[in-house]
Amino acid sequence: MHSLSELETPVPVVDLDRLGRNLDRAAAYATQHGLALRPHIKTHKAPRIAREQMARGAVGLTCATPFEAEVMSEVCHDLLVAFPPVGSARAGRIAALPDGVNVTVALDSIESVQTIADAARAADRRVGVYVELDLGMHRVGVPVVDDAIAIARAVRARPPLEFTGIAFYPGHIRDAVGSAQSAKLETLSKSVGEVVDAFDRAGLHATVVSGGSTPTLWNTHEIRGVTEFRPGTYVYNDRTTAEIGACGWDDCAFTVLATVVSTAVPNQAVIDAGSKALGREPMRGTDAAGGGGFGALLDRPEVAVASMSEEHGILDLSKTAWRPAVGERVRVVPNHVCVVVHLNDVVVGARGDVVETTWPVAARGRGYSIAV
Ligand SMILES: Cc1ncc(COP(=O)(O)O)c(C=O)c1O
Repeated sequence: MHSLSELETPVPVVDLDRLGRNLDRAAAYATQHGLALRPHIKTHKAPRIAREQMARGAVGLTCATPFEAEVMSEVCHDLLVAFPPVGSARAGRIAALPDGVNVTVALDSIESVQTIADAARAADRRVGVYVELDLGMHRVGVPVVDDAIAIARAVRARPPLEFTGIAFYPGHIRDAVGSAQSAKLETLSKSVGEVVDAFDRAGLHATVVSGGSTPTLWNTHEIRGVTEFRPGTYVYNDRTTAEIGACGWDDCAFTVLATVVSTAVPNQAVIDAGSKALGREPMRGTDAAGGGGFGALLDRPEVAVASMSEEHGILDLSKTAWRPAVGERVRVVPNHVCVVVHLNDVVVGARGDVVETTWPVAARGRGYSIAV
């Protein structure tokens, strides 16, 4: 048995006990409220964790890229690609997923309906379709319900496509959990209800209403009409998620283990984790009351990584009396874990200080084969 202290740094470490608790809590919430859990695997990109999600009752998985779907098809037979299937290469890869996989895409344009219909026909396979609505995030999704209904009709007119539901992503709700979120959740709930009713009136019943995120995870049941939710970040959580109260600090399962390499400049310490280990994501949707920067120490959340070069992270020691020695090790909770996971080929799983296992971030990258 190896201990964390023997590992070369920087290295991503997952606390297996915390991971298990995070997976259990979301699965129990889904059961309690009769919601279908379809986790977004973009956070972990690892078949091993996907298997654990399925074993805990997930109805299927959500992916963003064709490569994620290809990798996850080995462990799950019900995949949603929640990204517009635009471009024949992307649509072709989706339609070429193994036969036994029930594939659904989320889309918001007639052009993408045509593209995925062509790919589905060429592959002779059924593809389910969720029509995506913009209910406040203003990223993708149709803002006008009649236009969404027109897209659903276009889907119906193009077998082997099958209209199976509607989707939205409440990425605009990143306020603190509780009263700061409640007005936005109420508006969202009203909008979802109106959309569902309008589809029903048009004779297009949405069997699935798919939404959900980690910041709104524990209030999903308050959104009228939602049948399925797709949180991703909840498996590991991160500094932003803790900051808004969608998890506790003790629920942060993923850290980057780093070593203090310099204390030569007074009032700061330099670690061997810079932007190539921690990403350069700001705190999102908060006023960064916990103190900006690009991550904070697990054991000393008041110590933030204030600035970075590619391989250097500068710890701000102005809020602590702690003065680390060169060679001391620290664990950094990243601001946005999904991006940090994607910087790594392999993740270490530990219980306490004991290294128990490792697993590949298998769906990392694009999986393109580029012909020259
Ligand atoms: C379409 C979609 N669904 C679900 C999720 C998961 O949300 P979260 O990371 O808040 O758990 C994301 C995240 O980016 C997303 O883009």
